[in-house]
Amino acid sequence: MKIIIVKDYEEASQKACEIMLEVVKNKPNANLGLATGSTPVRLYELMREDHKKNGTSYKDIKSFNLDEYFGLEQSHPQSYHYFMCKNLFNELDINMNNVHVPKGNGNIDEECANYNQLLADNPIDIQLLGIGSNGHIGFNEPGTPFDSVTHKVDLKQSTIEDNARLFFNGKIEDVPTQAVSMGIANIMQAKKVLLIACGSGKATAVKGMIEDPKTTDLPASALQDHSDVTLIIDEAAASLLTK
Ligand code: GLP
Repeated sequence: MKIIIVKDYEEASQKACEIMLEVVKNKPNANLGLATGSTPVRLYELMREDHKKNGTSYKDIKSFNLDEYFGLEQSHPQSYHYFMCKNLFNELDINMNNVHVPKGNGNIDEECANYNQLLADNPIDIQLLGIGSNGHIGFNEPGTPFDSVTHKVDLKQSTIEDNARLFFNGKIEDVPTQAVSMGIANIMQAKKVLLIACGSGKATAVKGMIEDPKTTDLPASALQDHSDVTLIIDEAAASLLTK
């Protein structure tokens, strides 16, 4: 694991942006694995600014998002599809036919099987990740097997509370209790993984991911076995690291 410790969220976002842009510039038809949550918001803003200022093109880029809430339409303001359009896609020259976010409704078994096939046909060049305070990646909650592929998930109460704090106008009863997520095996197949963790709320998960033995109790620890992982961690999230 390559670990980059930075001062704060801004520096983490700048560093992550450099890495994302390097992939996009070196491979204009790259497949990007993208994430939601509050962590990548500034990174996406920097990518939009770069596109506007420097003309970096996404016209041949394909994107594949990690997850989606179960039961929300794409047009719902709290859906991850909506989040991606608002925070990134609407201001890039990406072809919306090349944008993929798992669907959180309809025939879920069929949707999961289609998404797995899509990922098998389009190997991901770089997978961006955040990390849940309980160590989840995507919506792979503690206990998810490392060989899991795209599947329907029951969200842990702590994840529902974390996500109500920043989204859903704080209304916990509005947060869906289930989601559809790429599995850990899908994430591990990406050629490169870039994870950003900021803030003291992530410190325990970050320590477990890096320093403790690999365990399904902390899904992000699976990344210890990936050959090309970069972790960008701010000082607060790195505060419990001992080595
Ligand atoms: C959600 C997402 C994850 C994300 C996590 C952390 O649960 N499904 O992909 O990494 O939240 O969110 P935040 O970046 O807001 O801390």
